[in-house]
Amino acid sequence: MWWMMGEGGGHYCSKKTDDICGDVCGQESSRVLSMSRIRCILRGLDIKTYIFLFALIPTSIFFIYVHGQKISYFLRPLWESPPKPFNDIPHYYHENVSMENLCKLHGWGIREYPRRVYDAVLFSNELDILTIRWKELYPYVTQFVLLESNSTFTGLPKPMVFASHRDEFKFVEPRLTYGNVGGRFKRGENPFIEEAIQRVALDQLLKIAGISDDDLLIMSDVDEIPSRHTINLLRWCDDIPPVLHLQLKNYLYSFEFFVDNNSWRASVHRYQKGKTRYAHYRQTDDILADAGWHCSFCFRRISEFIFKMKAYSHFDRVRFSRYLNPKRVQKVICKGADLFDMLPEEYTFKEIIGKMGPIPHSFSAVHLPSFLLENAEKLLQRTACVTPREGFSTTMTTVVYNLYSFAP
Ligand SMILES: *[C@@H]1O[C@H](CO)[C@@H](O)[C@H](O)[C@H]1NC(C)=O
Ligand SMILES: *[C@@H]1O[C@H](CO)[C@@H](O)[C@H](O)[C@H]1NC(C)=O
Ligand SMILES: *[C@@H]1O[C@H](CO)[C@@H](O)[C@H](O)[C@H]1NC(C)=O
Repeated sequence: MWWMMGEGGGHYCSKKTDDICGDVCGQESSRVLSMSRIRCILRGLDIKTYIFLFALIPTSIFFIYVHGQKISYFLRPLWESPPKPFNDIPHYYHENVSMENLCKLHGWGIREYPRRVYDAVLFSNELDILTIRWKELYPYVTQFVLLESNSTFTGLPKPMVFASHRDEFKFVEPRLTYGNVGGRFKRGENPFIEEAIQRVALDQLLKIAGISDDDLLIMSDVDEIPSRHTINLLRWCDDIPPVLHLQLKNYLYSFEFFVDNNSWRASVHRYQKGKTRYAHYRQTDDILADAGWHCSFCFRRISEFIFKMKAYSHFDRVRFSRYLNPKRVQKVICKGADLFDMLPEEYTFKEIIGKMGPIPHSFSAVHLPSFLLENAEKLLQRTACVTPREGFSTTMTTVVYNLYSFAP
């Protein structure tokens, strides 16, 4: 490898050069001046070594430029310690156990009537996943609150996607509070600022929607979907914690690629006027186990993946324009590899190494949102990841990927 050759090229005062500066190299007394030693070394290098060094330096710089992110992610366990662990609350559920018993198993009592439930999201372009979310939560949600902007978090203009597809969501219309905000289009600003501004606007929209004290408020991204029975439990039991994170199963690209059980950002709050603020970071130590699904980058069309890659708060991860090439995106998502060519973000070497390489295919469609299975013809198609001889198109303009698929 090149860096090992570097050692060979750099050995000082080799036999060949002894005759040129033998006097300096020869006498190893403590009084030898370092300047003359360096001059000796430089004079001692032959032309091939110079050429070699001139090639080596740019190559190393290029290598660090391309792989620097990987190097720093791999070394992360050395410079960052894992966050404080959560206090896991065991989750009990079976469809045939009464609510009274379920509450009791959690150490809670049952209420006389359930709390009202508000589900509030910031929407970008995730139409399919929004449908799955709202269908899952529909039986128990009092008001669906959705806010969209004509700016992405990264300051790019975007269409109001929900507004132009609102007629596809007639089933929630009587329970929908919709709002939109204009972006500020500050290019180059930290995307988390635009995101924070949109979350403040969502707080206002929740007030307009009529939220009041002790109503249950779900704070999560569109693709973090609490399971229906989890919300039913939390609206019926009395002494649930005022703020509770939900542990969700992580999936990537579709429900075919199960990553781990460790999604924690979604939370449920017993609303307190003047105190509860819409947030998407860690707010408490309590987390309820196995409470739903987080399907990241779950889209149907390649164009949607590319839009998300550009709109995403971590746009800095798109380091090369070839990352946005539709053919590459198609290949990467069919394999379950990483769209940004990054290493897993973990805190221990064991976890980093364990998660390197593509995600293995899962062959379980047990305990997924019911709407997926009820709409198999639309959402469970096998498409471009199946070999073309089976008659599927791999063009980028048609439906090329699906929310749930099994490899052949
Ligand atoms: C479910 O509960 C009902 C009564 O609530 C009972 O009749 C039925 O046998 C139970 N089913 C199973 C599979 O346990
Ligand atoms: C964004 O929306 C705001 C208000 O809704 C409007 O004033 C502005 O012109 C829009 N900008 C773009 C680029 O669409
Ligand atoms: C995730 O949790 C399930 C139980 O809900 C367990 O069977 C599975 O092994 C866990 N998977 C990982 C990768 O931790």
